[in-house]
Amino acid sequence: MDDSRGMRLRGTGHAHAKVILIGEHTVVHGTPAIAVPVRRLQIDAIAYLGGTNTTTGPIAPDTARSGTDQAVQELLRQWGITDATVDLRLHIGIPPARGLGGSAACTAAAVRAVAQLCGRELDAAQLYESVQFGERIAHGRASGIDTAAVLASDPIRFERGESRPAACGVRAGLIIADSGIRGETRPAVAAVAARLGDDPRRGSEILTHARELVEESAEFLSAGRIAELGRALSEFHRVLGGLGVSLPRLDHLAEAALRAGAYGAKLTGGGLGGCVIALADPDTESQQRIRTALTEAGAIRTWVTTLGGAS
Ligand code: MEV
Repeated sequence: MDDSRGMRLRGTGHAHAKVILIGEHTVVHGTPAIAVPVRRLQIDAIAYLGGTNTTTGPIAPDTARSGTDQAVQELLRQWGITDATVDLRLHIGIPPARGLGGSAACTAAAVRAVAQLCGRELDAAQLYESVQFGERIAHGRASGIDTAAVLASDPIRFERGESRPAACGVRAGLIIADSGIRGETRPAVAAVAARLGDDPRRGSEILTHARELVEESAEFLSAGRIAELGRALSEFHRVLGGLGVSLPRLDHLAEAALRAGAYGAKLTGGGLGGCVIALADPDTESQQRIRTALTEAGAIRTWVTTLGGAS
């Protein structure tokens, strides 16, 4: 039922998680990156007219929640809706502060729910802009890759605000292991910017190397060259370590995955905590071996998503 402003009583929205396969951090400085949607982890939002905001499931970090709330307020302002209070209920099925795109997915789900509540259609560009508005509040400097990836249904290649499908000829399991350590993206992004700025010549060498690894990975991914893709992912983990965003626990998890037969392993997302991903054969036996090794090495939980199949 609509009221006189075209508003309904309730709107719903959903958005899924993502992992960055390769290229996090350097993507903020203009290099390409590849991200993969993780549809099995998702945030559900319900927007009602009136009331106060509620979150269910693990509580999102304040900055993430505040990015979401401010993106919603901005949207209502743009639509000239100043006389309505929106009660936003979020069920958070993506562990927050783990580099899985939780803040972007929160905002995407909320914005979709509020658009439906208000009887408005958002096109892809408006949705992207609205989620990016929240991400800039949550992360400070945000490249846009998290926003693009939580809105995408297939792997993407992202560079300087533009995303396009990443061709995927690899069939693999991607194991995601939670280190149990909260990783806040904002300080990690600031630390990398400082590191690159301290020694601009070295910084530019690092960015060139990162670009080469991502370009090669895009080719390996497209051509189904899983072993070479794995090696590039592990090398990128070392690049991220050199930028100061790995931790001994993340290195330890990546090494455990490699010892258990993964083709490659690296931290994913902002780092300084969060998750490690490991590239595995598509068969469940090798995936289980790697998951067990990751758990024994201290991962508090693991998930599997697939490359080249339903995620
Ligand atoms: C966070 O998932 C990815 C970063 O590269 C930040 C960004 O691109 O906005 C660390």
